[in-house]
Amino acid sequence: MTGPVSPSREARVRIMVREEEEIREEVRTTLSGSPRSLPCRFFYDAEGARLFEEITRLEEYYPTRAETEILGGCAAEVARVVGPRARMVEFGSGSGEKTWLVLDELESPSAYVPVDIAREQLVEFAARVRRRLPGLEVLPVVTDYTRLSELPWPETEAGATLAFFPGSTVGNLDPEDARTFLARVARSLGSGEFFLIGVDLVKDPDRLERAYNDARGVTAAFNLNILRHLNTRLGSDFDPDGFRHRAIWNAEHSRIEMHLVSQRDQVVSLGPRAAHGRPSALEIVFGEGEVIVTEYSYKYGLDDFRTVAREAGYGTVSAWTDARGDFSVHLLEVR
Ligand code: TRP
Repeated sequence: MTGPVSPSREARVRIMVREEEEIREEVRTTLSGSPRSLPCRFFYDAEGARLFEEITRLEEYYPTRAETEILGGCAAEVARVVGPRARMVEFGSGSGEKTWLVLDELESPSAYVPVDIAREQLVEFAARVRRRLPGLEVLPVVTDYTRLSELPWPETEAGATLAFFPGSTVGNLDPEDARTFLARVARSLGSGEFFLIGVDLVKDPDRLERAYNDARGVTAAFNLNILRHLNTRLGSDFDPDGFRHRAIWNAEHSRIEMHLVSQRDQVVSLGPRAAHGRPSALEIVFGEGEVIVTEYSYKYGLDDFRTVAREAGYGTVSAWTDARGDFSVHLLEVR
């Protein structure tokens, strides 16, 4: 019998070293840009995932509650529009409660296809779905959903496809990239298929800023954790106490900006220290008050998002908001 040959120990070490070097180079590049930034995927180590869970339960962080309220009210209608035997595709490895709100309403769904880059969480959530719905084909796909390719089909006859992208994660892409992402999903789904997507709305800047800068400092800890995570991955020497979390509303670009502000003049080394005195290409000099952008969270007007969706190749079947008008969920159909 032949099978995949697993790489030798030496080969595995080489792969890990190469990965670490690639990350170091990527971080060096983003930190050298204007503005300085860090790739937001480094938020999510185990501690980052735990802190984000905590954020979703914060009094100030309204999006999760608002979206859950909307989905509870609209899922039956979504299920009616999509019809029986649907194949449900979710971007992000299952947001737990939100997944069930939709999946449980569908009439005899044929497959559930969670798509995520985090293999472990994906496998774990897939197992949970299988236990709860033993008749359902669960077909996880490990990939970066901005590099989407072929989505798997179940072995049984399937009805329409419903893609699901909750959490206003689309708002973490800039509007140009959001359009590109939506258009790519449209092509991969095909004409007549559906996309259910959560989008946070523009509102009072005070409430927006508080949602990203809570009184207990959970979001601050989450934002600063990116530095700890990079230290573990790269052996870099970011001092998390040397930076402060800040979230500000940028009205011109309609986005919340997550910053880490340098609290003093400091030098951060992204790797092994150079011989004393000699400045290394891997050292980044921060002045007091200098900013690292860690993430943007764009907010839309209801009609603005409809326009983006139209430009990306969709028609809007329905759009719902919560009672306060804080958040929206759009059911789109690929034209
Ligand atoms: N998709 C979430 C949002 O934009 C992510 C998020 C929430 C986040 N709080 C954060 C990202 C704080 C960075 C820092 O609402």
